[in-house]
Amino acid sequence: MSIIDSGADHSITVQTKDSSYHMAVDGYGYLRHLYYGKRLEPEDLFYLYRNYDRGFSGNPRPAGNDRTYSLDAVCQEFSTSGVGDYRIPALRVMNTDGSRIADLRYVSHEIRPGKYTLPGLPTARDTDGDAQTLEVVLRDEPSKLTVRLLYGVLEKKNMITRAVIYENTGDNPIVLEKAGSCCLEIPYGNWDLMHFHGRHNRERAPERVPVLHGIQTIGSGRGMSSHQHNPFAILCDHLATEDHGDCYGLMYLYSGSFRAEIEGEPYGSVRAVMSPGDESFRWTLQPGTQFAAPEVLMCWADGLTKLSQQYHKAVRENICRGEYSLAHRPVLINSWEAAYFDISADRILKLAEQAANLGIELFVLDDGWFRGRKDDNAGLGDWEYDPEKLPEGLDYLIAGIRETGMLFGIWVEPEMVNENSDLYRTHPDWALAAPGRKPARGRNQLVLDLSREDVQDYIIQFMTELLTKYDISYIKWDFNRSVTDVYSHLLPAEQQGEVVHRGILGLYRVLETLTARFPKVLFEGCAGGGGRFDAGMMYYTPQIWGSDDTDPIERLIIQKGTSFGYPLSTVGAHVSIAPNHQTGRSTPISTRAAVAMTGAFGYELDLGLIDREEQEEIRRQVREYREDEPLIQRGLYYRLGEDTERMDAFSWLLVSEDQDQALLTVVATATHGNAPLIHVRLKGLDPDALYELREDGLKHSGAALMNAGYTLPQLTGDYPAFRLHLKRVQNGAGKEE
Ligand code: DGJ
Repeated sequence: MSIIDSGADHSITVQTKDSSYHMAVDGYGYLRHLYYGKRLEPEDLFYLYRNYDRGFSGNPRPAGNDRTYSLDAVCQEFSTSGVGDYRIPALRVMNTDGSRIADLRYVSHEIRPGKYTLPGLPTARDTDGDAQTLEVVLRDEPSKLTVRLLYGVLEKKNMITRAVIYENTGDNPIVLEKAGSCCLEIPYGNWDLMHFHGRHNRERAPERVPVLHGIQTIGSGRGMSSHQHNPFAILCDHLATEDHGDCYGLMYLYSGSFRAEIEGEPYGSVRAVMSPGDESFRWTLQPGTQFAAPEVLMCWADGLTKLSQQYHKAVRENICRGEYSLAHRPVLINSWEAAYFDISADRILKLAEQAANLGIELFVLDDGWFRGRKDDNAGLGDWEYDPEKLPEGLDYLIAGIRETGMLFGIWVEPEMVNENSDLYRTHPDWALAAPGRKPARGRNQLVLDLSREDVQDYIIQFMTELLTKYDISYIKWDFNRSVTDVYSHLLPAEQQGEVVHRGILGLYRVLETLTARFPKVLFEGCAGGGGRFDAGMMYYTPQIWGSDDTDPIERLIIQKGTSFGYPLSTVGAHVSIAPNHQTGRSTPISTRAAVAMTGAFGYELDLGLIDREEQEEIRRQVREYREDEPLIQRGLYYRLGEDTERMDAFSWLLVSEDQDQALLTVVATATHGNAPLIHVRLKGLDPDALYELREDGLKHSGAALMNAGYTLPQLTGDYPAFRLHLKRVQNGAGKEE
């Protein structure tokens, strides 16, 4: 039983393997948050909270003359506005009379077996058969707005999911100006916020800052989760390290505009609220209708490493779906950095033959293959092959690639249109643009209005035709600009604040239909690199192109930041040419591979530009990746930077769950003369076992490697990388394996 209902006093405890979440209804009918953290057995935790007169904070009506009770000072399960709590609201409404008040009181609750789902939205699945759902109903009586708080418990995964269904059970429309998915309160302590920010070519850089007295907001108003702020945040104890300390994660299963607000409030608690949309969000809830706020995957762990490992497993097993989510991913070669728009059948077939010779398994034809696509000014929307570039047709090209033994994959950007395309000439109203205004261009293209069902159907139809007509095993689904000019021609003025969210629902409908129709196709997400790298997309696309920056030294930060929340199997990572096209930096091919192998591995370069020695190296790398892939995809991931980053080296370790194998990777970002050697303490090994270190032939105990550590040989040259494979050769009882 992971949800325990105490009965009469309405206190509810949600238990996972290692954590507990406690809430209770207080004497005035408000649902109070009591505790979230290391697992406790159920008990009355109201003793933690003492009321006293807080001066200018109002006292709600049910409290009568009790001046010591104020919503402004208590931890609540779900914060609202207009009734005396001045901190971040999770809900803001506009009632029919124009008032902005919602007084949410407890009505009932129910515990159900299994995990809830949400209409049209991605949700974590119950893959261990241990999930339960808690639904707590709150209501604002005057407006009859009913708020159903949903909690899903994935007990073995240590995950609690949150979502909210808003339902208008009254007779008048209610406008949701903010419809939060969750509110998390931490009553005491000294907290840091970790978030993952960036820009195109530098996504998900980790930043750790103290929680301020005031509100810190991360979010996106770009119609996509964005390069700028990933929809994932960690609240951790100010003293928390990789190994110890309270850490809470909030991961949004959502790909559109969003807000994550964190408030350090005057009485010492911290409140975090996640909600879909930005300030322009407005949703009119007509009587009898519902609005579902997207799901948040919430986790507590002791230490950042454990938190990351728990997210990795849950994202991999409970969010990613389909044939490829846990299976071998073909090592691919992508044509983009090899040829850009300059595509011809001869060029592509030559690259394919070279790639197949090196053991590469999948050829991806990137942008540039369709009608009119000479550059990025034209073509998006006209999804037939370009007869000028491919006069013999796409079939001919695919047949040639399949003959080499490789699978074939192709790039599309279905949510976009160029004005210079037949699609736009036929359906100009399908692009987002307000009447009387010329919409802003981004990469010379406009964004299609996916809130419209006819636009969704058009995408489903052309993608179905493409995937039915041709022998395609992989789709790269790109999205190359932020959304502007938000206006849908099919919605009345008062519903224009719904367009962005409706567009995301439209995208999810399209992806749901296509992934169900073509279960054997591997879909890789992309948005100018990692601009839509979120758990919502991962529900449909189990891998996402990590960043357009393929320089391995830049990727060290990008992939480190990514590792806090997302498993390596989700991160598309490629070896490209040196000097790198984004930075001009030259790095050894071994370093490029050591970094790219910490992800869904591939290549993206003109193989004609490299010498025989590097080709041999690639052949060896592909073989090695095939061998290491189970460890890379499913191993427990340890960041070891606390030991090595002050020595200009990034390092990480993967350990198989049975502790039989491990793989250490170290990449030096600078080398110095007569410098101290890099020394690292390994983690997660079996202390009693003996491990063989493949690359230097030594054998050492797990205990020595974890406590005394491992000293690397001297690393020289530009940006050297070092990989060490460890294998258990003797178990704890001294027995040879
Ligand atoms: C942006 C992607 O991130 C690149 O990998 C490439 O596919 C280009 N778009 C093509 O236009």
